[in-house]
Amino acid sequence: MRAHITGWGRFVPARVLTNDDLAQIVDTSDEWIHTRTGIDERHIASDDETTSSMALQAARQALGVAALKPSQLDLIVVATATPDYLFPSTACLVQDALGASRAAAFDLAAGCTGFVYGLSMAADLISSEAYENALVIGAETLSRIVDWSDRATCVLFGDGAGAVVLQASGADGGVLSTVLGSDGSGANLLCLPAGGSREPASHHSVAEGRHYLTMRGREVFRFAVRILPAATRRVLERAGLTLADLKLIIPHQANQRIIEAATRSLGVPPEVVFSNLERYGNTSAASIPIALCEAIEKERITQNDLLVCVGFGAGLTWGATAIRWSVPLPPQPISPWRRIGQRLRYLYAAARSLIRRWLRWLLARGTNWQDTDRHTSHDE
Ligand code: UT7
Repeated sequence: MRAHITGWGRFVPARVLTNDDLAQIVDTSDEWIHTRTGIDERHIASDDETTSSMALQAARQALGVAALKPSQLDLIVVATATPDYLFPSTACLVQDALGASRAAAFDLAAGCTGFVYGLSMAADLISSEAYENALVIGAETLSRIVDWSDRATCVLFGDGAGAVVLQASGADGGVLSTVLGSDGSGANLLCLPAGGSREPASHHSVAEGRHYLTMRGREVFRFAVRILPAATRRVLERAGLTLADLKLIIPHQANQRIIEAATRSLGVPPEVVFSNLERYGNTSAASIPIALCEAIEKERITQNDLLVCVGFGAGLTWGATAIRWSVPLPPQPISPWRRIGQRLRYLYAAARSLIRRWLRWLLARGTNWQDTDRHTSHDE
């Protein structure tokens, strides 16, 4: 069995923050941001948008393209560094909203490499025949952990989500090979110091701004320029393929200079490497699936093409996946009837969730009454 990508979807918030907007907030300029990073604008979540709400939108689209019912999912993985809560997992919130009644669900923390880690885990579980259908999502609300007074970091990040559906099939292609790695000695290079169990939230931690992400940009840059080409070469080697077989590389979208340096080091033409960070900034675990969706929309991928998704990030972590694209493109448009069916299914999922909560509340009240009765009769 091989894991094939059969569905994909992306979501970004409507609100756009340009470099000029940022220059009103911190001491920076469009010129500096554009030349040093390649970023022109990024999308920022509104107050009522969260990592789970964006993940849900991307997931619904991906399931629609795959023509798969949520109840057919065996597994939901949400790769994120900005979950709605430390627990429960964002994946469980998505599972409930989708009505994916059979699915296991968990979050995965591997920084910006999270989506590649998730893809690899899900593909392996499918190849081992443990599962048939998996949903892998990369989703982030980085705007909530960025220090908006720190020009060195706030100009880099954006919010959004991307998702793919992976399905088992004996057909050729799909996920061919993966490479994952980590080096925790670089943990301090990209870190959210407070809010975890080492330094729980306190007046002190908040006053010192230790709930904001910190980054040693130059060191991360050097690491990225070295690891992107190395991981790309290794994942191709594992699949028994070479750079000449490659149609498209979809790298983590962190900095255009990193992408260009990796392109030079690999010796591939620039058109082989996809980039869209000028409009999204760095959306961490969401950047690769968002870029994958855009590459499909821009007809940069056709059936049988060989792709490599390659990422790096906090941890430090890195990872790459080689994929032989196996489904026809463009996808069949979704018929209005199927769209109505999907909408009804999500309404049913919301009603089901509400009824479950309500029953649980009733049950808890019933138990409380019984307990009160028992105590009263005991006292008597
Ligand atoms: O997803 C993975 C995580 N992150 C990354 O991949 C990021 C990797 N690193 C980078 O992309 C780059 O290192 C940055 C874009 C973060 C920074 O670019 P750089 O060329 O490494 O700049 P720098 O940190 O060496 O700073 C150069 C100068 C400094 O001024 P001085 O010390 O030379 O006077 C900074 O204070 O630029 C200054 N600077 C800014 N100036 C205007 C830093 N940020 C800004 C800014 N606007 N936003």
